Amino acid sequence: MAQGYGKIILFGEHAVVYGYPALAAALNLGITCSVQAPRSSDFVLHFKQVNMVVTEHDPGPIAKALKLVAQELPCPKKYCDIELNSEIPFRAGLGSSAAFAVALIKTLLAWHEIQWNAEQINQLAYQVEAIFHGTPSGIDNTVATYGGLCLVADPHKYPMPSYVACTLALPKFIAGFLLPLAEPIGIVVIQTNKDRETKKLVDHVRSLYNTNPALYEPILAEMGTFASKGYEFLVNQNYRAFGDMLNQNHTLLQRLEVSCPELDQAHKDALAAGAWGAKLTGAGGGGCLIAFCPGHESELIQELSRKGWSCFMASIGKKLTNTP
Ligand code: MEV
Repeated sequence: MAQGYGKIILFGEHAVVYGYPALAAALNLGITCSVQAPRSSDFVLHFKQVNMVVTEHDPGPIAKALKLVAQELPCPKKYCDIELNSEIPFRAGLGSSAAFAVALIKTLLAWHEIQWNAEQINQLAYQVEAIFHGTPSGIDNTVATYGGLCLVADPHKYPMPSYVACTLALPKFIAGFLLPLAEPIGIVVIQTNKDRETKKLVDHVRSLYNTNPALYEPILAEMGTFASKGYEFLVNQNYRAFGDMLNQNHTLLQRLEVSCPELDQAHKDALAAGAWGAKLTGAGGGGCLIAFCPGHESELIQELSRKGWSCFMASIGKKLTNTP
């Protein structure tokens, strides 16, 4: 059985597409794949939770991903049935496609008894992400592969702070891996249950940017200032400042027109229920909102559930699983 981590972006989604820094954290939750049975021909993926069966010859991005991963195996194929289990919702801003890619790659490597290092896994996971999202920044697959906390940015726009533990060159940008928190910290994830597509939202921001760069560049640049400050607030347990910055980032994402009435209502309800800060996470347009209320997550979940929201608790800040 192999796992890919789900992720949240704490600060800087969309800004990172333009090279500004984003801070992402692996969740303690993710997606696992496991080989169920050998086969004489074909790879077949079973996703029982949603009653879905996919082979590499089917249409759609999941089949394309399966085909690409199978094609990249540097050996004759040993076919099998693969079972997929997810602890995170799909298409909801929590990096499910990247977590799926990493779990699938690791599972097929183990089944074929091939040793790859984390960097090779991450590179192939990036290609899978491109099937789902066009031209991703690489932040989701990197967190899904390595776990932990990381900053991602264009090194020409933003030199990594001296405290990053190590760096890794990605196809477009650089990832700077950060030291883990003294203790993992809880985050409440609120689901709007509104489906959306990352690519469409990234394209929407691109068209806004192209029509009026003078208006949008400063918004992206301001979001970019949050990533390293946010990490410092977390490490220094300056939780009020961290919460305030989540709210500021949500406001800037509204100005990029990637929020929606459901996310804004969830934001209001989370603050009214006692959260210290909240923001949409990932591409937006639906998906999930994260709310921060250290030590009081259960009360927050109870209050939000009473208002009809489906939410769950996750934690962030554990150490990296793989070292670059
Ligand atoms: C992806 O989770 C968030 C975006 O920043 C797109 C990307 O980084 O590729 C919107």
